[in-house]
Amino acid sequence: MVLFMEGLMAHFQHKNKKYSNGFGPMLKGFKQVEFNNIKKLILAINKKTAGIMIEPIQGEGGIRPANLSFLKSLRKICNENNILLFFDEVQCGFGRSGKLFSHEWAKIKPDIMSVAKGIGSGFPLGACMSTNKACVAMTKGSHGSTYGGNPLAMSVGLEVLKHISNKTFLSKVDKTARYFWENLKKLENTSNIISEVRGAGLLLGIKTNISNIDFSEKLKKNKLLNDRYSSTKILSLSNSGRSKNFIFNYLIKKGVSKSQIQNNLNLMKQDNNNWEFESAKIFAKKKKILEKNESYEKKLAKMARAGFSYDICKKILG
Ligand SMILES: Cc1ncc(COP(=O)(O)O)c(C=O)c1O
Repeated sequence: MVLFMEGLMAHFQHKNKKYSNGFGPMLKGFKQVEFNNIKKLILAINKKTAGIMIEPIQGEGGIRPANLSFLKSLRKICNENNILLFFDEVQCGFGRSGKLFSHEWAKIKPDIMSVAKGIGSGFPLGACMSTNKACVAMTKGSHGSTYGGNPLAMSVGLEVLKHISNKTFLSKVDKTARYFWENLKKLENTSNIISEVRGAGLLLGIKTNISNIDFSEKLKKNKLLNDRYSSTKILSLSNSGRSKNFIFNYLIKKGVSKSQIQNNLNLMKQDNNNWEFESAKIFAKKKKILEKNESYEKKLAKMARAGFSYDICKKILG
């Protein structure tokens, strides 16, 4: 039995049918436990537990970082119970968090780890790594693949590693990220739209009180967002798969400069109130709030429940 954290990208028994429909039967032998909840995890362990899987910073789950104390406890529990610890760093690895691997923030090591995305920096490449001890049953040649280990991909991977593992590179990511963080946190405190900023390094998530689609449209209009194929803007967006959470995943380019960030923060600040007003307008239109034969209070409550401030609701409802 392998335990994995709720919100893990590579789910095995998706509760969310959006991900699992059409892919059944689901692989047996996996049990989901609550993310960041050490008590529940301990209760879920039994003598059949062979491994624990976790993304140190969940990507699709909404840029949710595991608490460092949680990661440390996982390592301790795995050691004590002879359980393998598996980290999925497909999304959070390779410099995005300010360290080569995100788990380094907790000063622990996994037994097995999957990586991809950043390792090829655009070139399709992934890898599964393990300690010698954890891979005793997996000898050379026991797992083949048509394209596995092909020379072109390996050269790309080596080149990427050369750049990312350079200390100056990572310290620049860390320094720029801290600057962006501090300022985004200030914005979080004053903004009606941004309710939470989370993540690590330049792997950032912004939780909004309004629809993520509306928010991203606005950012795109203001040229703050990278659209998929453009390389001129500093933020690139992937809306969270769990759109109800209103989470954006921002993977900010690692080469971004402080002044670019400052420009973007200024634009965000200026636009904060406009965003809220325009988003409230879109919301009211979509939900046909103005046309409904309902009391003013009921309309107001609907708008307020969607996260709009009293002043903005009043402006919309007239
Ligand atoms: C954390 C995580 N794990 C695994 C995967 C799946 O990776 P792949 O598409 O290389 O199979 C993804 C894809 O987005 C991911 O974000």
